[in-house]
Amino acid sequence: MMPDSLSKLIKKRALAPILRRLVIDLETSIIIEDDEGKLLIATDGAERLIQHPVTVAGQVIGSVYGNEKVAPIASLLTSLAESEAEKRALVSETLNKYKEITLLYDMVEKVSSCLDTKEVARLVIEEARRVITLSSVSVLLLNKETDALELIGGYDHETEAVTSVSRGVGIAGSVLVSGRAEIINDVHSDPRFVEGAVSISSLMCAPLKAKDNIAGVIELGNDQPVTYTAEDLKLFTTLASLAAVAIENAGLYEQLKDAFYTTVYTLAETIEKRDPYTGNHTKRVMEYSLAIGKTLGLSKEEMARLQLGAVLHDIGKIGIRDNVLLKESALTDDEFDQIKKHPVYGEEIIRNLSQLKSAIPGVKHHHEKFNGKGYPDGLKGEEIDITARIIAVADSFDAMTTNRPYRSGLTLEVAFDELRKYSGSQFDPEIVEAFFASDVMEAFFTANSRLKIIL
Ligand SMILES: [Fe+2]
Repeated sequence: MMPDSLSKLIKKRALAPILRRLVIDLETSIIIEDDEGKLLIATDGAERLIQHPVTVAGQVIGSVYGNEKVAPIASLLTSLAESEAEKRALVSETLNKYKEITLLYDMVEKVSSCLDTKEVARLVIEEARRVITLSSVSVLLLNKETDALELIGGYDHETEAVTSVSRGVGIAGSVLVSGRAEIINDVHSDPRFVEGAVSISSLMCAPLKAKDNIAGVIELGNDQPVTYTAEDLKLFTTLASLAAVAIENAGLYEQLKDAFYTTVYTLAETIEKRDPYTGNHTKRVMEYSLAIGKTLGLSKEEMARLQLGAVLHDIGKIGIRDNVLLKESALTDDEFDQIKKHPVYGEEIIRNLSQLKSAIPGVKHHHEKFNGKGYPDGLKGEEIDITARIIAVADSFDAMTTNRPYRSGLTLEVAFDELRKYSGSQFDPEIVEAFFASDVMEAFFTANSRLKIIL
């Protein structure tokens, strides 16, 4: 830290009148200059007989000229300057501690409730930008299969920025191996430095280490030549270890979530297998539904509800007897009434499973019609949950285009016409439009180039 200049010290401590008084008492005269030779104080008749330097931590910040009587004045200024420097160092240390504590508190608050690795990376980047001078940050996670670091979040990165780093390559790759945080204040003189899309002059790199496991690396840099200090590194390392714990937790949660979806999906598939002609119906309904949800811009929470609802929409068919469910000829009214019970059976099955409850609207109401003429409750328009309105379109479209034992599936063109025809009566028109605008259409276009003209 640079000490205060002599001129600032004299002003801050209002020393000028005291110094003048001292000179009178000592019956002498003085000239005081700063380290650049700028005159700060001069009394009548002063001569540059002897130079008495004023120093702080060995650094000359000015000089007092006069006879030997003025030596105590130089000593007084030196000791005042030193006490001022100590005070500043203490303030700066306290400030750093305060920053560190605030950072810890904020981070713990935010990341402990965060169960998504990318979101953790985003929060860490936000915090780093708040407390450390930087122009770019990268959060890189170790992909255990490829043994390379992959970028999961970054700030101020060009699109072509490095997104994958092998173990031992570059500074990030070497920190992954050593597990030790580093400051590099002149990156261009470091032989490990690999020039990337982002221009960097100084950087700090820390491992994302929770217990003894290194999950990745976080690197931040500045395009201006700044000098990162040991204090900066301490703060950065604290941030990295908090991030590592949060990323580990989020990773475990993601694994758990995947296992949960796989179990639910297997359950739905087992039921689907009773009817061998439906082959992959559940999977397609889920894909179409999610594509529609994405086009409509549903929230994360609604998308999760939609996915579960789509996977489980026909789970109630487990309660329908084989001779009805698998009947190859037309159904009697009574048999059709039995089939119509499957949404309610589905609701009864999942009602007591807390993790599946959010799927209830999709499961119970996927056969409601927009005009109120569906089943089981005859709900109308927006009384029908959005997930159920989406699943209705996805389910009907897939049913129309799939071959059944008693009829061939409709062509895509005819199925699209049907959706349009029943848009507003059976289906919510906004959802039909969202389906036509969704990513799924790309795949249909690729498979059938005539479709583009029809739509
Ligand atoms: Fe159904």
